Amino acid sequence: MKGVILAGGLGTRLYPLTKATNKHLLPVYDQCMIHYPIANLLGAGIDQILVVTGGPHAGDFIRVLGTGKDLGVKHLEYGYQEGEGGIAEALEVAEDFAEGQSVFVVLGDNFTDADLGPAARGFKEGAHLFLKEVPDPRDYGVAVFDESDTSRIVAIEEKPKAPKSKYAVTGFYIYDSRAFDYIRRSEPSARGELEITTVNNFYIADGLMTWSKLDGLWLDCGSFDSLFEANRIVAETRQGGDARFSQRPPTDPA
Ligand code: DAU
Repeated sequence: MKGVILAGGLGTRLYPLTKATNKHLLPVYDQCMIHYPIANLLGAGIDQILVVTGGPHAGDFIRVLGTGKDLGVKHLEYGYQEGEGGIAEALEVAEDFAEGQSVFVVLGDNFTDADLGPAARGFKEGAHLFLKEVPDPRDYGVAVFDESDTSRIVAIEEKPKAPKSKYAVTGFYIYDSRAFDYIRRSEPSARGELEITTVNNFYIADGLMTWSKLDGLWLDCGSFDSLFEANRIVAETRQGGDARFSQRPPTDPA
């Protein structure tokens, strides 16, 4: 299984910070945001990774990540998304890299202290979602469950005004190669994007979706408040001597 980190988009919710660099290179305590999803993939045993980025600061990634060897990435590739046409459009860039294999996809502004390894190793085909119960899921994709079988997802609704459950879809997904066919069959949403939720609903409609609860902290750094909260949690964890989130890139000697 290969890893894909989606780190495109303009990060407009974080203007003016993202006028200076790409959102995923902003700091979360003492590392760049993207170091954390990379560590999540490495922790799951995935060391061939594609970073899909875009926008005016794409080149900044090379300076920060280089070949990825210092971080323990065996093979690091970069992909470029022209425009900001949505998460599924960014994922489409990964088709050649995937070479027909399954991919573990992480949104570049998400990370966790959960062990993603068992799900990665146990994956066979279809797609797998990681859900997290949150008090107010309206800012996320939200799972709709079968009323007579509450373990079965019947749909995902993207940012619903009246969520039908408290289970948010986190930014960790495992897909087989069908994802790319589903992306080709997707239509842009009302906000003009190819949504990952549309891809997930194709898998659900074809009876190919499994899910599990994300067994740990889920951090999403897409807004000022959530970025601040992620910084606070990582700082407190690290200052308390807890080894979570501690994979550090080497210090630049220059
Ligand atoms: O954080 C989890 C949520 O992420 C899910 O619950 C939602 O279903 C999913 O749509 C997504 O919602 P967001 O509104 O948080 O997505 P956002 O536009 O912030 O994009 C998340 C990441 O995806 C971003 O950090 C980089 C990548 N991305 C996004 C877009 C729009 C791209 O690579 N290219 C893009 O064009």
